[in-house]
Amino acid sequence: MILKKLRSLTNKNQKRNLITFSNPESIITEEFRTIRTNIQFSSEQKRTKTILMTSPSLQEGKSTTVANLAVSMAQQKEKVLIIDADLRNPRIHSIFKLENSIGLSSVLTNRNWFEEAIKETNIGKLEILTSGPIPDNPTELLGSNVFSRLLEAASQTYDVILIDSPPVLEVSDTKLLANQCKSVILVLRHGKSKVDKAIEAKKVLKIAKAELIGVIINERS
Ligand SMILES: Nc1ncnc2c1ncn2[C@@H]1O[C@H](COP(=O)(O)OP(=O)(O)O)[C@@H](O)[C@H]1O
Ligand SMILES: [Mg+2]
Repeated sequence: MILKKLRSLTNKNQKRNLITFSNPESIITEEFRTIRTNIQFSSEQKRTKTILMTSPSLQEGKSTTVANLAVSMAQQKEKVLIIDADLRNPRIHSIFKLENSIGLSSVLTNRNWFEEAIKETNIGKLEILTSGPIPDNPTELLGSNVFSRLLEAASQTYDVILIDSPPVLEVSDTKLLANQCKSVILVLRHGKSKVDKAIEAKKVLKIAKAELIGVIINERS
């Protein structure tokens, strides 16, 4: 199912990473609301709580989509957690202008408790677990029992958990994440993502036993 075709976020050369927050009345904010509603419909019976956002390659809009969708969900009074599980190229902390010396990697290496690593925001009940310092062994950390226990604990507390991840075709991290999250949304960038890569990504996710609940086509012309 195509959840939505998103427009370009940039306007007059301005970078607008968090448009759902900075401009609640814009057309693109409305588009994120539509995606939110479509996800709610698709997950009504399945009670999807943990959703992994990925794409075949780099720079297709995963982090931007996670951030804006999370804001949109939090504005609807949901208790939302973003986990930045792109431990190689993290970006969530910079989108939300958060400090990142403690985060997911510190929890996975037992340096901090999950609760103390979570950052609150001033956007409804949106909370964020940034990546933390870039570790040497991201795949190992994301495949560990500590990570699955963290997800289990988080699902008791939050209505929705959105997970940002590395490109599924580039590293093994995302396959491990997909296997633990079950529900996945694929972000494809108009004019950039190749059809064969999208098909391959779909196959890889199937092998990881994840359900592809939808596709977002980012930045259509
Ligand atoms: N719809 C969009 N319109 C304009 N710029 C976008 C859009 N989506 C993403 N970008 C920009 O493209 C770049 C890559 O996006 P990002 O979300 O970091 O991709 P990924 O996480 O897949 O690597 C960022 O500079 C971001 O601001
Ligand atoms: Mg990213």
